[in-house]
Amino acid sequence: MSQIQFTFGLWTVGWPARDPFGDATRPDLDPIESVHKLAELGAAGVSFHDDDVIPFGSSAAERERHIERLRKALAETGMFVSHATTNLFTHPVFKEGGLTANDRSVRRFALRKVIRNVDLAASLGARTYVLWGGREGAESDAAKDIRAALDRYKEGMDLLTSYVIEQGYDIRFAIEPKPNEPRGDILLPTLGHALAFINDLEHPERVGVNPETGHEQMAGLNFTHGIAQALWHGKLFHIDLNGQRGIKYDQDLIFGHGDLLNAFSLVDLLEFGGPDGSPAWDGPRHFDYKPARTEDVEGVWASAAANMKTYTLLRDRAAAFRADPQVQEALANARVNELNTPTLGAGETVADLMASDADFDPDAAGARGANFVQLTQLMVEHVLGAR
Ligand code: GCO
Ligand code: MN
Ligand code: MN
Ligand code: MN
Repeated sequence: MSQIQFTFGLWTVGWPARDPFGDATRPDLDPIESVHKLAELGAAGVSFHDDDVIPFGSSAAERERHIERLRKALAETGMFVSHATTNLFTHPVFKEGGLTANDRSVRRFALRKVIRNVDLAASLGARTYVLWGGREGAESDAAKDIRAALDRYKEGMDLLTSYVIEQGYDIRFAIEPKPNEPRGDILLPTLGHALAFINDLEHPERVGVNPETGHEQMAGLNFTHGIAQALWHGKLFHIDLNGQRGIKYDQDLIFGHGDLLNAFSLVDLLEFGGPDGSPAWDGPRHFDYKPARTEDVEGVWASAAANMKTYTLLRDRAAAFRADPQVQEALANARVNELNTPTLGAGETVADLMASDADFDPDAAGARGANFVQLTQLMVEHVLGAR
């Protein structure tokens, strides 16, 4: 099987594990050293926020120096830029939003920050630019005019897409939904909200989604279903893989360390869900997780390796699942493939459809088992390595 391209956000391994209740448990890492370390571990690329590489408030000269160090590390390791994004959430200026802050001067500042980093992303060969609107939202229903906020979000996206088209950049934008945290309620809270919003943009072809496993699961949703729908719309532009256990705060666990069965079905879809079992997704397998606060720096690198190992193991398990003759039989018994047959025959009219009523016995069809359990159990046994 082909080599999978794994990529990591520099802020993932770089997280010093400061949380709302406790201080950092680890030292800050030099992002440039992280590029080298991740390359050694077998990753193919990295993603970054502007501030991960260029500390907020850097002078123009300092900025150039930081960019040069990154350029050099990428050249030395052969790593590519999986995506670039903007930090519109850490500095207090963004406490009430970035592109959708009520304060117009903050919105203008946010747009300048994005555009500056889009230029950098293009110069580094990034083809995806992510927008995660962590601060775009509110805690008070009365304090945010949601329709006006969506107007301003659209205005920002339309400006950015027009800008990259004018500049001739080979860049597409990917919106990353999240239901809440850090805001009480975040705009575009799920993949479905984001897909609907994209339809109303000026250049929808330039905008897709960057769904994160845990963010959909925080909303109680099935991540595999969400990814399948994003693929169906041709809107999966990037992906953030991690783990989450149910509806609670954003855990950003290692991939597979949350809902393992859903992780299995996701890998099965990404790797074998295309026509004739080809990969349904040919972009990078990107991890956006947080190494647990309990771990030291050595544990950080162990956790990075764990993401790739777990994904690879699930890929192998999914391959075995698909190759198993009993699974083939169970798939047939569950009529999985029959769903690919159009509901009406070629040339069939509504009159033909209506006339076929006599041939069908709803009671008999209602009494027939769908045979899903056998298939699910085979999946569990394959995940457990019991087959
Ligand atoms: C989260 C988000 C963030 C964004 C990243 C890109 O876990 O809430 O995933 O990690 O992906 O910051 O802006
Ligand atoms: Mn997250
Ligand atoms: Mn993410
Ligand atoms: Mn994250």
